[in-house]
Parts: sequence; structure tokens; C-alpha cells
Amino acid sequence: EKSALLFAIIENAIDGIITIDERGLIESINPAACALFGYSIEEVIGRNVSMLMPRPDKDQHDEYIARYQRTGSPHIIGTGRDVNGQKKDGTLFPFRLGVNEVKYSGRTIYAGFIHDLSREKEAEAKILHYA
Ligand code: HEM
Repeated sequence: EKSALLFAIIENAIDGIITIDERGLIESINPAACALFGYSIEEVIGRNVSMLMPRPDKDQHDEYIARYQRTGSPHIIGTGRDVNGQKKDGTLFPFRLGVNEVKYSGRTIYAGFIHDLSREKEAEAKILHYA
């Protein structure tokens, strides 16, 4: 069945995948995203996605979403951005964030795709250091 296949693909994806509702509350998270941020599924479902990021974004993320809904002008949707995430233990790590708007059975959700950049940024820092 097709949806079982899609579920298996998401469960086994290397990149983290998180979906949130129109208010920013986490509706689903795959194992890769749980591993990256150091949380279990139960610890994040229903909570605000802002728990996964440092300040100042943590304090402003609700407004980022609200502004997009008000104006229709995207800052990450359709382009992506390199941002910092915050793990459960407080550690920050860089990742490439992609966000899609998904209209699904009469409502809007957002799907976030998280590609860890820790190794790339470490290598980049070394090169810059010795240059
Ligand atoms: C907007 C940061 C995770 C959904 C933004 C903006 C930033 C940001 C900086 C735009 C600010 C602006 O220029 O106006 C972060 C950080 C994250 C994170 C640091 C680390 C965990 C997520 C995830 C999702 C998401 C996982 C979806 C599942 C959105 C949406 C918007 C947004 C819907 C508004 C649309 C847009 O501006 O394109 N976020 N975000 N964010 N983010 Fe996040």
C-alpha cells in the first residue's frame, strides 16, 4: 500500500522530518529528527517547535509563522536557510532547514526538513582557521 511505503521512507530517512500545525505545534517527527535533537517522540509531540531552537528565534518563531500567514510572504518556504538547532542537552548544531506548506484535508500544516551540517561547518571552520 502506498501510504505504508511513504511511512517507511520517512521513518528510514537520513534527514530529520518534522510537521507542525498552523500554530507551530509538533504533530509528527521521524526517528532521524529525534536522534538529532536528543528527544523521544513522546517528549515533543504537541509541543511548540520553538523548543528545538535557541534565542532569539525561540522567542520569535510564533511571530515568524503568524507573519507569513498574515502577509503570504515567505522567508524560508521555497528557499531554505541555514539555522541553528538546540538539542535537549542545550548543545547548538547547524542544519539546513527546508519548509513546505502542505494543504491537507481542509487545513494547513508545515513540513520541515532538517539536514545536519555539523561536519561541514567543522571542516569549513578548520579551513578558515588555517587559511
Ligand atoms: C520561519 C527559524 C524550525 C516552520 C522561520 C524563520 C526563521 C526560522 C529564522 C524566518 C524568520 C524571518 O526571516 O522572518 C527556525 C529555526 C528552527 C526552525 C532556528 C530550528 C529548529 C522550523 C521547523 C518548521 C518551521 C521544523 C516546520 C516544521 C516555519 C514556518 C515559518 C518559519 C512555517 C514561516 C514561513 C517563512 O518564513 O517562510 N523559522 N525554524 N521552522 N519557520 Fe522556522
